[in-house]
Amino acid sequence: MAESPVEIPKALIEKLRNARHITVITGAGISAESGIPTFRDAQTGLWAKYRAEELATPEAFRANPELVWDWYSWRRKLVGDAAPNDGHHALVELEDWAPSFTLITQNVDGLHQIAGSRNVVELHGNIRKVKGLDCTRDRECPAAGDASRYDQSPDKPPRCEVCGTYMRPAVVWFGEALDHNNIELAAEASSKCDVFFSVGTSAVVYPAASFIYQALANGAATVEINPQPTPQSQEVHFPLKGSAGVILPALIKQLKEQHS
Ligand code: OAD
Repeated sequence: MAESPVEIPKALIEKLRNARHITVITGAGISAESGIPTFRDAQTGLWAKYRAEELATPEAFRANPELVWDWYSWRRKLVGDAAPNDGHHALVELEDWAPSFTLITQNVDGLHQIAGSRNVVELHGNIRKVKGLDCTRDRECPAAGDASRYDQSPDKPPRCEVCGTYMRPAVVWFGEALDHNNIELAAEASSKCDVFFSVGTSAVVYPAASFIYQALANGAATVEINPQPTPQSQEVHFPLKGSAGVILPALIKQLKEQHS
């Protein structure tokens, strides 16, 4: 059965036409249509099958480095085999269209950049990269970089040849602080935007879920795109129920039609 055409509220199109800065935050839902599992969806989400505390914490890595390395290698393969979908591509079009644009993502899959998004803030890191276990922002070991260079390594996890530390995925684990610079960039983009989109996130993980409140406090129009309700659905001006890969392209189409 053909899907019915998506109606985007005219008032939202008007807000977008007048916007100087547009900010978008994305979560796992935008990559769901690329075949990457989300975290909290009841049947298919990663946290329905795996325990976060056994796989996605510094303590888990120290207790069982091989298990954690293997789990991230498996996820890296999933992500490496995936391609951006219509939702990712529509956000590139929105960036091209907007006078000024920031894309904040909680996703570690790098699909926004592969699609062509430019101004991206990766709040939770990037699974395609590795860094040393003891690396800090100011002191990064020379082995940090592209994870693919360790694909053939017999050591799980491999070690940095210079300092000997274990290599780990360059993602933010539960219990770890987010990069301060990224938080500042995201907060600034949320405070100054005229329209704020929350796309494909359950909006339960902080500080990511807090940026929409900065946008609201500063008078921005807020939009949520999600097939399921979230704790923020009642608070946004435009809750658009449905998948990102359908709604975002429809929004771009209507924006461009009405703009010409
Ligand atoms: P979740 O798995 O918590 O939420 C995914 C959201 O996407 C849900 O609200 C779904 O309803 C929605 N969704 C599913 N398919 C969609 C589609 N096609 N289009 C639009 N929305 C869709 O993922 P996140 O909110 O991203 O953190 O999770 C936040 C953080 O928690 C992740 O970055 C990760 C996780 O544990 C860390 O690992 C630190």
